[in-house]
Formats: sequence, C-alpha cells, structure tokens
Amino acid sequence: MCGIVGYLGKKEKKEILIEGLRELEYRGYDSAGIAIIKGKKLNNFKAIGKIINLEEKTNDFHSDGFGVSIGHTRWATHGKPTELNAHPHLGKYSFVVHNGIIENYQSLKTELQDDGISFLSQTDTETIVHLFEKNYKDDSFQAFKDTLDRLEGAYATLLITETAPDTIFFAKNGSPMLIGFEGDDVYFASSDTPIIGKAEEVYYLEDGEYGYAKDGIVKLFNKDGEEKRFLKEILVSDKALAQKDGYRFFMEKEIYEQSTVMSDTMMGRIVDNNIYFEELNDGLLDGINSIKICACGTSYHTALASSYLFERISKIRCDIEIASEFRYKEPLLSSDTLFITVSQSGETADTLEALKMAKRAGLKSLSICNVDNSSIVRESDASILTRAGIEKGVASTKAFATQMMVLWMFAIELAQRRNTITKENLQIEIDAMLHTPKALIVKDKLHNKLNRLAKRYLHGHGFFFIGRDIFYPLALEGALKLKEISYLHAEGYPAGEMKHGPIALADSELFTIALMPKTVHYDKIKSNVEELSARDATILAISPEPFELADDFIQTQYDNHPMLEFFEMMVITQLLALEISIRLGNDVDMPRNLAKSVTVE
Ligand code: M6R
Repeated sequence: MCGIVGYLGKKEKKEILIEGLRELEYRGYDSAGIAIIKGKKLNNFKAIGKIINLEEKTNDFHSDGFGVSIGHTRWATHGKPTELNAHPHLGKYSFVVHNGIIENYQSLKTELQDDGISFLSQTDTETIVHLFEKNYKDDSFQAFKDTLDRLEGAYATLLITETAPDTIFFAKNGSPMLIGFEGDDVYFASSDTPIIGKAEEVYYLEDGEYGYAKDGIVKLFNKDGEEKRFLKEILVSDKALAQKDGYRFFMEKEIYEQSTVMSDTMMGRIVDNNIYFEELNDGLLDGINSIKICACGTSYHTALASSYLFERISKIRCDIEIASEFRYKEPLLSSDTLFITVSQSGETADTLEALKMAKRAGLKSLSICNVDNSSIVRESDASILTRAGIEKGVASTKAFATQMMVLWMFAIELAQRRNTITKENLQIEIDAMLHTPKALIVKDKLHNKLNRLAKRYLHGHGFFFIGRDIFYPLALEGALKLKEISYLHAEGYPAGEMKHGPIALADSELFTIALMPKTVHYDKIKSNVEELSARDATILAISPEPFELADDFIQTQYDNHPMLEFFEMMVITQLLALEISIRLGNDVDMPRNLAKSVTVE
C-alpha cells in the first residue's frame, strides 16, 4: 500500500514527482506529499486526499536545477488520513517516505521520546527519520545503515537529508521498489509506471538491499552489507494502454476491454488443439499430486472457482486458502503439492508471504499474475502471466477474467497430462475458450438495461448474490464488486446454504441476485430461488431460462458451456455494480478506504 517516488537530477522535480504519484494513486489516496532539497533549501508540501489537492498546493512552486526529491501517496495504516500523518515526514533536517509497516515502531518511538524527541504524527514512519537523525554523527550513510539495522517489518523507504543534500538513501525489505536510470538522472518508484517514458533502464531491488544514489551513480549493498554489482534491465511497457479512451471510468473501460484482452491471454497457448504453456518447464509438475492455491480478494475468488475445475476435470486434489489466514494457521505442507499464488499486482503482502512460507517448506511454486517482474513473479519458480494489461480501476475486472481463463486453461493442461480428459471433451473445452472473447462483448442493449435497473437497487437492507458450484465464487465476486464501489452491504452465498440461516433476512427489501446457469444444477438453484421468492425477497434473476418468479430478469445467451455462462454472467454483475455506484455518485475508480495493491499485512 502507499506509493513512493524519488528523483535525483536537474529536471523540474515537482512535475516528475506529481506525475509519478498520479501513476501510483491507485495504491492509496488518503493523502500525498513531496519534499525537495536543493542546495540548502528544504521544501515540503502535503495535502489530504487525492493528488489533485497536492497539485493545487504546489501550483506556484518550481524546482528545476540540481536537487534531490521524494514523494508519497498514502493509504493510511497508522493514524488517520490527516496532513500531519501524510508523508514525507520531517525530522530536524531530513525527510523520509515509506511504504510498508515498521512492526517495532512503538518501542522505537518510546525510546526516541525518552531521548526528548517529539513526534508530530501517529505514523510508524516518523520513527525512521528521528532514528536517522539520532544516529547521525558525521556520516549520513552510516547513520542510514544504523537506522535500517533497527527496523523490523516491511519497508520500501527513501530518505533525503541536508547533511548529504546531493544524495537519496534507499532501502527495500518486503515492499516493492525499483530504480530507473537515464543519463545522470536517477528515479525511484514503487512500480514501473511512473518511470515509463522517463528512464529506459531499471533495476528491481531485492529484499534486504539498500544504498544511495549520488551524482547519477547508485551504490547498492545486499543484506550482508556487501556492495553488489547489479544488472540493469530494459524497461519495456506501453503506458498508452492506461488511458480512459472516452469511458467514464477506468473500471468501465476495463469491463469493455475484457473481450480483447482475453484473446491476448490465450495467444500462443492453444496449439494444435492442445493447451500449451511454455512457462511450465524444467519438471515443475513432476511428482506433483495435489495443488494448493493462495490468494486474496478477487484473486481468491478465481482460485476458488478453479478448484472445481481442478478436481472435476484434472482429477487432482486442490485446496484453496485465503493468504492472510494461511500464513498463521501453521499449515501442514507436503512437497508433492504445487503451490500456486494468484495475484493481479504480484505485490499483495499476504500472498507474497504465503509464497515464501511454502518455498521454505520445499514446495514448488507457480504464480498466476498480471504484472511481470513483480515481487510474486520474481519469487516463484514459474509464472504464467495473465496479460490483462495495466488495470487501473481499484475494483478488479479484467484481471479477474484473465486469471479465470489462465486457471481454466491450466486445469485442462493438467487434465491432458494426467489423461483425465477425452479427446472429445478437450475439443469442447477449447472451442468454448476460443468463444470466450465473444461472450465478453458488452452489448449496448444489456448495458442500457443495467443502467435502468440500477435505479431500483439503490436502497434496501442488503444484497445477496447467490450461486452454486463455480457460480458460488462468481457470486462472491459479484458481491465484492458491489461492496467496493457502492458501499452497499452485499454478500455472496452458496445458494443451497441460504436455508441454513440467511433466509431469515428475506423480505422485499432484501435484494437477491440469482445466478441461474442452465448448464450447472439449474433445477437445484431454481428451488433455492423459489424458497427466497416465497419469503418475498426481491429477485433479480440472471439466466438463459425465463424465470417467472423474478422481479427483474436478465436473459443470458449462452446455455451450452458452464464457463461461457460464467463469463457472460460475470460481465452482468460487473456492470450492475458499476451502474449502481455511478448512480450513487461515487468515485468508481478510487473507492473510499481502498487501494489497488495491498502491500501491507
Ligand atoms: O493484486 P492482487 O490480486 O493480489 O490483489 C488482491 C486483492 O487485494 C484484490 O483482488 C482486491 O480484492 C480488489 N480490490 C478486488 O476488486
């Protein structure tokens, strides 16, 4: 969570920092700030809320000519979203920005307070700058190293100080950071988007690494304190992919894009009517007898849906875990289990830590991820990229769709390997995959209908999204989308479980979104929905089969393959959430209290 940027060079620093922060705003937008040291002059600006507020505050400020600068956009963890809690944090003569959590900050803070140092903020980060200044005698780098020695927890941090006004000190442990190089200019950022178009070469820092940048040169040290020679990589990426193109919100654009990105996801992976992943090399799957998948949020939902496919089609045992639970349950792990992580960002702290745990236990690992070079990708033995392109909306859509496609394809690939699928059924699966981009096309008529329907679903005391089988995780995802961007209470539930308690809530103010596919237990879900209707719940049924008890009905087109039904219904739930949120006047792309990438525990 939080995004950090840094720049050392002669260009207009304010602009570089603010542009960079705009690219990272999806990581948090509770407050933002920048600090610049130019010669002996210290400048610092902070604003609550989005970057635009910071921009307004810095309108009249200019900062070209050589100097060092750092910036931060915050997702609050310690302390409310106030200006005092906004980064950069100032000591007497130094500034720091930080992404992560300093777990021992309370004891450090007490120690510093006992030394007479007063704190302005409630953050864990402020301890870093005071500790640095306490450690400083006459060598800034030594003071920085001594500070790092005392920190426990996760951090990506940048520090600038009047005692070394031409230097940026940096360190990374558990939170992402990379360095960009262009001539004598040096850039720092939490992800590559702020650097694209500015620097052509980058280095992705590894955990435990730290150092400093001065005179266009970066000195890098590993966790044992040894200076490290490092290889820069070429930064290839296309930022143009992340513009709104006339859509009202990125989320809307990303829903519409699903059809085309899905073709990218499949490209080169269906060869001669077989599924083929070139990423699965070097005996990754040799000796594997079961699968465990760990993920969070939306990615957990695709994982859960895929478990039905792995067990049903690939005939392999598949357990799914929420990463934050898995980490502390002291799981029993066996080395014949393939450990899969699913993550859009590749930076989710809980998922990353779960992966490290599994690796320590000797498991082979595969990540299904949208961001190449992300921490999870780099930590995994192998990775399959979902190729969704940059996803900017905090509410995940195309990442969900492409993860689901990769997991479906991987289940079929395993079925091929394990001889658990007939040639005929393999053909049916591949035909359905190739048809998916069509099933994801958003038709105007459908979107207009959802726009109108949204009006009726703005109040009430709650929503239940219900489904069975793979449509249960889809129900969870539909409810999550609605919660995230509309702030209305919604739950996803297995349809057959409603009678075990939640049906007590049923009345006309309970909105039930019923996913009623024809190909998966239609009669069973129909009975479940009838039970709700008999108790007066308001029903929005989504099905290829007309359902006369529905208050509202959306007729779907596909009725011949579960995954095609799945993807078609997925689009409907996404659009419903989008339209309700827009009607409520919410900021769809930056919902309150959320951040795109959760890099804290
Ligand atoms: O980047 P990841 O897929 O690991 O992120 C996991 C969740 O934080 C994420 O899916 C979150 O639930 C989204 N906001 C869902 O829309």
